[in-house]
Amino acid sequence: MGHERFHYRTLEELKTRAAELGVSLPFAGDTGILATPVRFGTTEALNRLGIAPMEGADAQGGGSPSDYTRRRYCRQAAGGSAVIWFEAISVVPEGCSSATQLLITRDNLEVYKRLLDEVREAGIRENGRAPILVMQANHSGRYSNPGNRPAPLIAYRHPWLEQFRPADDSCIVTDDYLKALEERFGEGARLAREAGFDGVDIKSCHGYLFAELSSAFERPGLYGGSYENRTRLLKNCIAAAKVQEDGHFFVTCRLGIYDGYPEGPGFGASGEDPLRVDLREPLRLVRELREAGLDTVNITMGNPYATTHVTRPFDVGKYQATEHPLVGLDRMIHGVAAVKRAVPEMTVYASAPSYLRQYADLYAAGVVEQGMCDGMLFGRMAFADPEFAGEILREGRIHADRVCVTCGKCGDLIRAHKPTGCVVRDPGTFLPFYREFVGQRATLPENFRG
Ligand SMILES: Cc1cc2nc3c(=O)[nH]c(=O)nc-3n(C[C@H](O)[C@H](O)[C@H](O)COP(=O)(O)O)c2cc1C
Repeated sequence: MGHERFHYRTLEELKTRAAELGVSLPFAGDTGILATPVRFGTTEALNRLGIAPMEGADAQGGGSPSDYTRRRYCRQAAGGSAVIWFEAISVVPEGCSSATQLLITRDNLEVYKRLLDEVREAGIRENGRAPILVMQANHSGRYSNPGNRPAPLIAYRHPWLEQFRPADDSCIVTDDYLKALEERFGEGARLAREAGFDGVDIKSCHGYLFAELSSAFERPGLYGGSYENRTRLLKNCIAAAKVQEDGHFFVTCRLGIYDGYPEGPGFGASGEDPLRVDLREPLRLVRELREAGLDTVNITMGNPYATTHVTRPFDVGKYQATEHPLVGLDRMIHGVAAVKRAVPEMTVYASAPSYLRQYADLYAAGVVEQGMCDGMLFGRMAFADPEFAGEILREGRIHADRVCVTCGKCGDLIRAHKPTGCVVRDPGTFLPFYREFVGQRATLPENFRG
């Protein structure tokens, strides 16, 4: 598939192209439904708009939030989304994705408390209320890179993934290591609660350690082979985190339901054809998470290091996708809808609206109207225009001249471990970092994907 840039001057043109591709994406006539409340964890989200976890790679020493981190989240809180799902925050140093990823520890807890106070104040000042703040607890697994040098901690060998990020047998983590993580994630949840987050996400998506375990069919021992073993760490860490629930603080999960690898094992993939979606196990898992007491989940797909186009359909990226971005959106939203159908009593948030630019708001309203999900998390859009939610809620529509253009430059910044944001819409802050990245790019291997 050659590059077909987003060129739709009207929503009708976009719908026509979608129909040609055999894709069905719902768009509402207006965004009114996005201003309605919905249950979220133990509390109520006052609108259906949320900000997706977006790593900023801007921590200072010891993983503490920096002025860049504060700026990002205060602007987002002022923007008016009911939910801010904070970026991946490591709870163990060896599982950091970079030297500048956020890491929460007892030593830097006070810095997090101050950050959250400021973020809440920014929300109250602009909108009369604070957003719901969720911490994403993560272990980067195969993509651990704590000193800005790859130090993979993998569940099993995966030759297709290893063409982009080499690993060997010595990188395979032991069952004892995984067992010990249960306590570490329990402690991470405690720190999240003490810091003042409203909830914690035990993250299992995007090829990181917990997500990788879900496809560890060939791994021997307690955490591989059977479905029960492959989902054991996630469930046990959720149980350990739930000990911290106190009537307000809640546990949630950002769950990847399909990896999209063309070769080798993948979660949510058919045994015969790895690219074919097979949601039997993911749906079973969501049902079990509901039985374990989770009220809210966010659903996503893909692995941004290897199948970026599945996670975040784009115009310009590290490689040319083999499918049209609208096909990726179709797969994503119909997967989300399958989850909502399977567990209707669960609050289900969808992901990945940003490719649709100025129509992302009518899309979010359309999918909620159709009952495919209860709310939408916006990722790249929130970098481009942190005020997108206020525009939708106050004026009915997002500002077309401020939307994300899916140019991939935020992705470039994150893989260069530089403070990350929108180079196009916020050049005063991020263009200098992008220029540094361009200077370094020449040294990256040809097939490097993250
Ligand atoms: C720069 C960047 C950083 C991201 N960081 C995270 C992260 O920390 N945790 C996570 O679960 N997803 C992360 N994502 C994925 C987004 O949350 C989101 O799923 C994806 O961008 C698709 O949504 P969008 O189309 O609205 O951008 C990141 C994406 C980008 C581009």
